[in-house]
Amino acid sequence: MLPEDTIISPLPVVAGLATALLLCPLLLNPKAEETSLALGSWKPREAASGGFVGSSACSPCHARLAATHRAAGMASASRSAENCRVLAAHPSLTLRDGEYSYEIVRQEGRSLYKVTYRDDALSVPISYCIGHGGTAQTYLFNHGGAFYESRLSFYPALEKLDWTPGTARNEPESLESALGQKLTQDDAQKCFSCHATNAVGEGGKLNLDGLIPGVGCEACHGPAAEHVEAAKAGQAPRRGISSLKRLAGDQLSQQFCGSCHRSFEEVMAMPDRGGIGNVRFQPYRLAKSSCYYSDPKDRRISCIGCHDPHDSLAQEPAFYDAKCLACHASGVTASQEATVKSCRRSQKDCTTCHMPKTSVPGAHAQFTDHFIRIVRPALPHPQ
Ligand code: HEC
Ligand code: HEC
Ligand code: HEC
Ligand code: HEC
Ligand code: HEC
Ligand code: HEC
Ligand code: HEC
Repeated sequence: MLPEDTIISPLPVVAGLATALLLCPLLLNPKAEETSLALGSWKPREAASGGFVGSSACSPCHARLAATHRAAGMASASRSAENCRVLAAHPSLTLRDGEYSYEIVRQEGRSLYKVTYRDDALSVPISYCIGHGGTAQTYLFNHGGAFYESRLSFYPALEKLDWTPGTARNEPESLESALGQKLTQDDAQKCFSCHATNAVGEGGKLNLDGLIPGVGCEACHGPAAEHVEAAKAGQAPRRGISSLKRLAGDQLSQQFCGSCHRSFEEVMAMPDRGGIGNVRFQPYRLAKSSCYYSDPKDRRISCIGCHDPHDSLAQEPAFYDAKCLACHASGVTASQEATVKSCRRSQKDCTTCHMPKTSVPGAHAQFTDHFIRIVRPALPHPQ
């Protein structure tokens, strides 16, 4: 496994491996053409054909981006249980459900997940924490050669365990099914391909050996071994890296960010368009806004118009005012030269009225509706 950014204790053995990889002369390929990966040749969540080096390898040259990214939610979208901040901070978690009692206990830097029913008990070591814990964290463990998703998740709003969304609440058939739901190989691959880096190997199979927990730099920019070598040798440093700077707004929001956050197309194909839970599918919600479909290519209303993918999520409404006013200030013209209207109600905190926070049942959290609109409070959640 390549290094993830360690939180609890540095892993010297793994760090040594990274250095060895960087120094490995086999990674130097003097014959490679001086080209960057063409747009479209690298896509997140697909098998990649280059070497991965891990985000810490970018720090020497991209220090500012590396530092902000390390603290951002996406960087910790998954962690090995050993490096899981939430479990380290909560060394004993419990839940009782009728005759079943659950506990997750921390022992010597590892976490054991245990269910007890009458005189029977089953306990397994947790392999991965999924989610940085902004709204929830779910656990994956290995049992009998397959990954399972924990039936319980940790909710920071409650400071305790509760049911994982979508969990059937009927009486479990066995202790295994009381612990969690067995994932097919395909589901496990999907889970890691969105929450980790280099999770997909040849033939679209889950690649645990090369997997780097978290959405690292290379989850978005592609494998960077060739780029790092070229930059170190002082050669064309834009070689061997996917720049992303030339993607049009809608490509970026739908095909790129949408490959993990779910695109308009993907949600349209879901039964009931994902129900109220689709408030979490920002590319879909955003595309329904007249701000967006007036000119989908406009980068000011793409995901990066409001979010720096290298930085933590800004939570103050005032941060977003300038993003709206880039189009809605009086006198500003949209790209097709038409003047965009401004608000008669307020000139600040735009998102508090036009991007309402929405609760999703069972999620113990509110999510931001990216369908920007004049909200009519009497109306139900517009699908
Ligand atoms: C030895 C120094 C060095 C290392 C290590 C390095 N880079 Fe770079 N990188 C550069 C230089 C120099 C450039 C070109 C100047 C620029 O755009 O900042 C560059 C450019 C880039 C660009 C393209 C920017 C553009 O113009 O579109 C991306 C993306 C990038 N690097 C990502 C990474 C990632 C991801 C890593 C770690 C896996 C990494 N780099 C490691 C030196 C380095
Ligand atoms: C490889 C999959 C992947 C891609 C590509 C991706 N994301 Fe994410 N993103 C995630 C996952 C998974 C999370 C949830 C992380 C968590 O909360 O643990 C997330 C969370 C976020 C968050 C919330 C972070 C927080 O602290 O709560 C923002 C904002 C975000 N992504 C923006 C973007 C933008 C903008 C893009 C495109 C430039 C993008 N993402 C591309 C997987 C991805
Ligand atoms: C298609 C990509 C995709 C797949 C597959 C996926 N997720 Fe996510 N997940 C995301 C994104 C994007 C977010 C953040 C956006 C949001 O708020 O829902 C997220 C958020 C989460 C969160 C909340 C994180 C936090 O810090 O609040 C948890 C927990 C989670 N996912 C667990 C899982 C588990 C477990 C699996 C697989 C069994 C899985 N996800 C599969 C993309 C995905
Ligand atoms: C969630 C996806 C995502 C992640 C993770 C990510 N980037 Fe980027 N990065 C982007 C996008 C999108 C752009 C293009 C921004 C633009 O066009 O303004 C970009 C731009 C860049 C640039 C060019 C910036 C500039 O202003 O010239 C560099 C360099 C870069 N990224 C390096 C990194 C490094 C290093 C990391 C990890 C520490 C990283 N990126 C992580 C999506 C990502
Ligand atoms: C890329 C430019 C752009 C950005 C950025 C933008 N908008 Fe818009 N917005 C438009 C256009 C174009 C329309 C449709 C024409 C019009 O109403 O003037 C529109 C329409 C609207 C409407 C009316 C919707 C309706 O249902 O009638 C509201 C409300 C709105 N925007 C609020 C916002 C807010 C709040 C933000 C920031 C969170 C924002 N917009 C960001 C361009 C933009
Ligand atoms: C017009 C501005 C704007 C645009 C464009 C935008 N967002 Fe957001 N986003 C916000 C605001 C405001 C929040 C809420 C921040 C807070 O209060 O914590 C947010 C929150 C989020 C979150 C955290 C989960 C939540 O529901 O609060 C994720 C993930 C996210 N955005 C992803 C995306 C993605 C992916 C795109 C592109 C499809 C995107 N955003 C485009 C303004 C924007
Ligand atoms: C207190 C809630 C509130 C805030 C804050 C707010 N708006 Fe509005 N906005 C409304 C309401 C309600 C309407 C519809 C009734 C109206 O036009 O007076 C509206 C209408 C609009 C329209 C449509 C105007 C038209 O003539 O059709 C736009 C565009 C808009 N707002 C953008 C913004 C922007 C940009 C901001 C931040 C600078 C903002 N709003 C802040 C409540 C708000």
